[in-house]
Amino acid sequence: MTDSSSAPTEDLAPHVLVLFGATGDLAARKLFPGLYRLAAQGRLPEQYAVIGSGRHSPGSDDDFRQQVREALQEGVDDLDDDVADALLERVSFCTSDADDGADLAAAVREAEDRLGGDDTSRVRRLVYLSVPPAVMTSMIAMLGREGLHERARLVVEKPFGLDLDSARELDAALKDVVEEEQVFRIDHFLGKEAAQNILALRFANGLFEPAWNRHHIESVQIDVPEDLGLEGRGSFYESTGALRDMISTHLAQLLGLVALEEARRFDADELRDAKSAVFAAMRPLDPARVVLGQFEGYRDDEDVADDSDVETFVALEAWIDNDRWRDVPFYLRTGKALAQGRRTITLRFRTPHTEIFNGSVACNELVLELTDDPRVHVDLQAKKPGPDMDLVKATMSLDFADDVDEGDPLEAYERLLLDVLRDDRTLFTRSDEVERIWEVCQPVLDAALEVHPYAQGSWGPQAALDLPSGGWYLGR
Ligand code: BG6
Repeated sequence: MTDSSSAPTEDLAPHVLVLFGATGDLAARKLFPGLYRLAAQGRLPEQYAVIGSGRHSPGSDDDFRQQVREALQEGVDDLDDDVADALLERVSFCTSDADDGADLAAAVREAEDRLGGDDTSRVRRLVYLSVPPAVMTSMIAMLGREGLHERARLVVEKPFGLDLDSARELDAALKDVVEEEQVFRIDHFLGKEAAQNILALRFANGLFEPAWNRHHIESVQIDVPEDLGLEGRGSFYESTGALRDMISTHLAQLLGLVALEEARRFDADELRDAKSAVFAAMRPLDPARVVLGQFEGYRDDEDVADDSDVETFVALEAWIDNDRWRDVPFYLRTGKALAQGRRTITLRFRTPHTEIFNGSVACNELVLELTDDPRVHVDLQAKKPGPDMDLVKATMSLDFADDVDEGDPLEAYERLLLDVLRDDRTLFTRSDEVERIWEVCQPVLDAALEVHPYAQGSWGPQAALDLPSGGWYLGR
């Protein structure tokens, strides 16, 4: 695996970053703090400008900078005012919408003249589209009309369409305007250190890889419960729901990382080919093995319809029909307002046939906790101390924060913004992956499944608890 974080940033060309949705929640919570941290580490290009954009003006440039400063104060520990000032003096705002991007195009060209001097062609554009799915295609068309796609890398936020047809439309809109190599479909779970660590643990340790297959593993759980509710995102949720927000994106990508065949290199073609092969081998979901839920109180949100049937919870069984995983069920679960906020991958091993313990041993579980403080533990059987040969459950744990003190973890968006700047698509999803995942999910979208109510703070509907034989690792 390459240590790409050591790439010297002075090699980065001058950049104009255009952030659509710059006054939104994602920009405030993740994108500007991410840019700040990159600036603090000296990882941004020496010359750059950031132009925020959106339909509504936040006021003057100074008003916008003040808004960004407040977001930094909120989102960054130990804010260094000098770093913040240096970032903010490169920030401005220009309104635009899908019908009219003329002022924005002029602002971008003006910034390029400033940064590029005699040769503006060396200035790169990074265009970040943090806009709702409903306007994504018309925004992309606008970029094409205004010529903003030239020399640009386009970062597209999820969901990538809302079903197979709209995903294809989005893809066609992108291909009308840019080449696939210019598109960075961002799924921030791939930017998480803990998600990438799945590959390190698996392929760099002789302990795990030989057992990572259907001969040794009985089932896999990918569980991302959230204790948070809507957090003011009622209208977003009404237009997406948990299947599109979480399953077809984050959880599917985690499944891809867990299940892929070894790539020869950690690079954009190899890693994405390997994930793509997993999705190609997935069986379309069986609606009879999917449980949808909605937390009680969801409909009280002011942006949610009184009779909304949008799901805030999904649990499902998936299958990968290839030699490695045939007959091994993958259980995926996620939901809002659940008992805990966790990101847990559990590989449940087959129970060995033992004579010595009369066959009465429990199965081993390898548990990857993909929190910001990643941990791995293995549930084992050991001898219970005492005069008899009895077994007791024991746990072998690794806490990365304690055991791995070298290195410099990057927050997911920070890492992915850096990767766009250095033109590395390894951790971004490719159109064939996206299309195949929608094919896999489409039977559920077409099925109009019942949405079961569940109590806030619970583990979701009862039907979901019963989905995996042996229950879920969490909440059992
Ligand atoms: C986002 C989803 O992409 O990921 C949210 O839209 C979800 O609904 C969030 O809460 C979870 O991300 P993280 O990094 O906070 O676990």
